[in-house]
Amino acid sequence: MKNFYMDVESDLIEFMNTGLDLKLHLASFLKTTINDIDNRLPHGSEDLAALHPKASELSDPTSFYETDVGTAHLLDLASWHLGSAEYIAETLKLLKMFSKGNVLDFGGGIGTHALFAANLKEVDHVWFVDLNPQNRSFVADRAKALSLDDRISFHRDLESIGNIIFDSVICLDVLEHLADPSGQLLAFREHMNPSATALLNWYFFKGFNGEYPFHFDDANLVERFFKTLQSNFLEVFHPLLITSRIYKPLT
Ligand SMILES: C[S@@+](CC[C@H](N)C(=O)[O-])C[C@H]1O[C@@H](n2cnc3c(N)ncnc32)[C@H](O)[C@@H]1O
Repeated sequence: MKNFYMDVESDLIEFMNTGLDLKLHLASFLKTTINDIDNRLPHGSEDLAALHPKASELSDPTSFYETDVGTAHLLDLASWHLGSAEYIAETLKLLKMFSKGNVLDFGGGIGTHALFAANLKEVDHVWFVDLNPQNRSFVADRAKALSLDDRISFHRDLESIGNIIFDSVICLDVLEHLADPSGQLLAFREHMNPSATALLNWYFFKGFNGEYPFHFDDANLVERFFKTLQSNFLEVFHPLLITSRIYKPLT
């Protein structure tokens, strides 16, 4: 990502090869070596799962994500993005198809999607929102290193952004972490212009072997989520064979 507005295919190849310099950025942010990052990455997911209480025991998800997780999510997400680079690259292709104007990346994690979107010429500005201050500082450092810092801003929550109306919303692998995912859909809708699209996925499931104890999976919560989705948004077809979906507000 050295040249601004690089061809998107080159960006995808760059992502597949290096995760947008991810290991380099992690080593610099965590003040360690790439060798140490290489040793820690394979345990990233286990370490986070070990830290995480079950969703049913999570009395305050906000303070958990904001303070308890610390830097653990950086390694967990990095290990996933590098290990499943082909899948993540498919989500980036969707960004290329649908992102424009003002873009919100809600629960942006290590910034892969926000940084990729900020580099698209169809995009004016990206608002990166994440409860975790470590994630925000890490992605702010990455944006500087990639010379994208004037195209992206960092926020704790949607409320502190003000009255911005978005043309594109990205919310990937976040909704199952929220105690009120239906409320979040409605908040997105309030901030979307009528021709905006939202790129969403969800996984309200603790895993076949209980590997995601922190995902909410309550049947009533899930039913309310689908009722809210189906009464407020219309799905837009895309040809990629992945679980991420595109929606526009129902008028
Ligand atoms: C599984 S990660 C997904 C990250 C990224 N979207 C991706 O696809 O790699 C979930 C992210 O949501 C953030 N998060 C959890 N609850 C949140 C909330 N209420 N508001 C904003 N961010 C939240 C976490 O800090 C974490 O970075």
